[in-house]
Amino acid sequence: MFLVKPQLILQPKHLLSKLLIGCMIMAGVNSCPRLMVVSDLDLTMVDHYDSENHSLLRFNALWEANYRHNSLLVFSTGRSPAIYKQLRKEKPLLSPDITVMSVGTEIAYGESMVPDNDWVEFLNQNWDRNMVIEETRKFPELIPQSETEQRPHKVSFYIEKDKAGEVIKALSESLEKNGLDFKIIYSGGIALDVLPHGAGKGQALAYLLKRLKTEGKVPDNTLACGDSGNDAELFSVPEVYGVMVSNAQEELLQWYAENAKNNPNIIHATERCAAGIIQAIGHFSLGPNTSPRDVPHFSECKPDNVNPGHEIVKFYLFYERWRCAEVEDTDPCMENLKVDYHPAGVFVHPSGVERSLHDCINAMRSCYGDKQGRKFQVWVDRVSPVQMSSDTWIVKFDKWELSGDERHCCITTVVLSSKGADASDGFTWRHMHQTWLEGWGGKDHSNWLF
Ligand code: GLC
Ligand code: MG
Repeated sequence: MFLVKPQLILQPKHLLSKLLIGCMIMAGVNSCPRLMVVSDLDLTMVDHYDSENHSLLRFNALWEANYRHNSLLVFSTGRSPAIYKQLRKEKPLLSPDITVMSVGTEIAYGESMVPDNDWVEFLNQNWDRNMVIEETRKFPELIPQSETEQRPHKVSFYIEKDKAGEVIKALSESLEKNGLDFKIIYSGGIALDVLPHGAGKGQALAYLLKRLKTEGKVPDNTLACGDSGNDAELFSVPEVYGVMVSNAQEELLQWYAENAKNNPNIIHATERCAAGIIQAIGHFSLGPNTSPRDVPHFSECKPDNVNPGHEIVKFYLFYERWRCAEVEDTDPCMENLKVDYHPAGVFVHPSGVERSLHDCINAMRSCYGDKQGRKFQVWVDRVSPVQMSSDTWIVKFDKWELSGDERHCCITTVVLSSKGADASDGFTWRHMHQTWLEGWGGKDHSNWLF
């Protein structure tokens, strides 16, 4: 599976299709993706009013436990690459398979964010950025946004709500007079973007779906998620389910009332942000919709979603709860846990030191509640299981830990084997190996725990 990328680079003719397929193979998606979630970030996936990131972490656990291995995650944001990357450092966002940035004007694939140059070429048609700048200068009400947000196919401003309607009308007229194919989008009651006519989040999604179709990889279902004006287009793409999160902006709700209120495939959730996305997955019956974070005791969590991804999510959730004293500290609890770890199993710490898995469990026992009342959050990203034989899996993932203000990440590899003939009886952990993710390493090597 790790061979996909180099091959891609050797075959420029089919580069983009291969990149798409590459994304899926890396995500473990060999057939059609079961679900493609296409989500806006600010105030949709990310709730800026929730400093604990509660609903985002709920979504993350649901995605990694149930969808990562057979589905596609697409972020579609108004942010430029620069401030998108900034957000990823600030919030516990998962790694998307595809990133659409700058209001559908930039598409990038995979973790290394390889740009889609075909899309760039397409947007160049009849787009004259200089002319847009010249014309917009005539409107003193338009306050230019920061330099980072001015992109090759996006010219962005701020404008107050009460002036927006009039200015949009007059600006459209003057751009039309100049023969430009453009599009003006107003979002969040404050931001105004001028884009090429063929750009926008909806057009970018339609383009991605078309590409997937060419490869015979159309997702079984697609769910678009948004909260503001630039997301409206996502909901107009044919055959797409849509969720406007409960906290959606006025301009999106108005668009819905005027254009889509009879479409049963679009809902206005009663839950905010990522919780609204989970709600929509349930509402449209798109697949499992119980986040492992909402399951207090995992003994209750059987057996339709037994897969290596779920096993990993479940363990780290227990680990977080254990250290926060949110589960009971009982002997049976630890003994039960030990049963899942092979007596000869070894854990290799990022420092290179090895310890038996049973020693690590014992060490964990003595750390019960050491993070109680403090900020301590653990989440996993990019969980990718590879089945090695009928009963063995190698699972690679990023394990993130936020403790107070410090955030670390370990690239982790685990070898699991099924207890019974298949995975329905659960897994035994046989081996674990961690290395620091570059730039996210820890200084404190006394932390021996997983
Ligand atoms: C994001 C972008 C901004 C854009 C807005 C609305 O906030 O940073 O440039 O205007 O989205 O699309
Ligand atoms: Mg938003």
